[in-house]
Amino acid sequence: MIGIFDSGVGGMTVAWAIEQVLPDYRLVYFGDLARTPYGTKSPATIARYSFQNVDFLLEQGAKLLVIACNSAASVAAAKLRSAYALPLFEVIGPAVKEAVRLSPKGRVGVIGTRATIRSGVYERLIKGKRADFLVFSTPCPLLVPLVEEGWLNQRETKMILRRYLAPLQQQQVDTLVLGCTHYPMLKKSIQHRIGRRVKVIDSSWALAAELRDFLAINPQLASSLSRRAEGENLYYVSDITAAAALVARRIFGRPIELRLVAGIGDF
Ligand code: DGL
Repeated sequence: MIGIFDSGVGGMTVAWAIEQVLPDYRLVYFGDLARTPYGTKSPATIARYSFQNVDFLLEQGAKLLVIACNSAASVAAAKLRSAYALPLFEVIGPAVKEAVRLSPKGRVGVIGTRATIRSGVYERLIKGKRADFLVFSTPCPLLVPLVEEGWLNQRETKMILRRYLAPLQQQQVDTLVLGCTHYPMLKKSIQHRIGRRVKVIDSSWALAAELRDFLAINPQLASSLSRRAEGENLYYVSDITAAAALVARRIFGRPIELRLVAGIGDF
């Protein structure tokens, strides 16, 4: 199976894109709702949770891993890569590639959680590819709770977006990376506020395409992965809340059966 984890259900934006691009492959998802949010936590804690999440996915039969959470990818991807000998995909690399490919003048804005922005990973990777690019990053900690409350089009959400995006507008960014699982759900409002000339990048589609290309050139691994014909996709969470069920439903456009798995990381 393709194993995907996130701090909660926001990463289902990534699972959904993978479902669309690779409909024959079976997915097992884990959303760590009991310990969400990750974006406010320290790198050491996020890394520890990430290792536990991966162990859970491996127990379920995952043979390929996807980190759907930007906060986890920003602090734990390298550690996970060196600890596990299986292919690992994450959301940051594809977003960086898209930003570098699409930015006309090399002025890239990045928004994300505090953990992601503090890690400096986007800036490091973008500059690693194009030293001449300028990267402007802003943490947007209020956006995750707003999305989880379902406040996608409220006036208050638009006011907060205006405040967060103003410094990036002042810097005249030509490209804006949505560096958090939840932000694609605000994409319309973000695009409207930042201006239609700015390219807004949501990495879930780029990641799904990267995965498809990888499987096409690795047929042996591809054929070892479980297929949809063998069973449905599984969506596990470490806690179930009504708000999470609603977010999941909004992302997939259909009800998602959330399966409770208790005790991950308990000691
Ligand atoms: N999944 C997180 C991310 O993409 C957002 C929610 C959280 O802070 O846990 O950074």
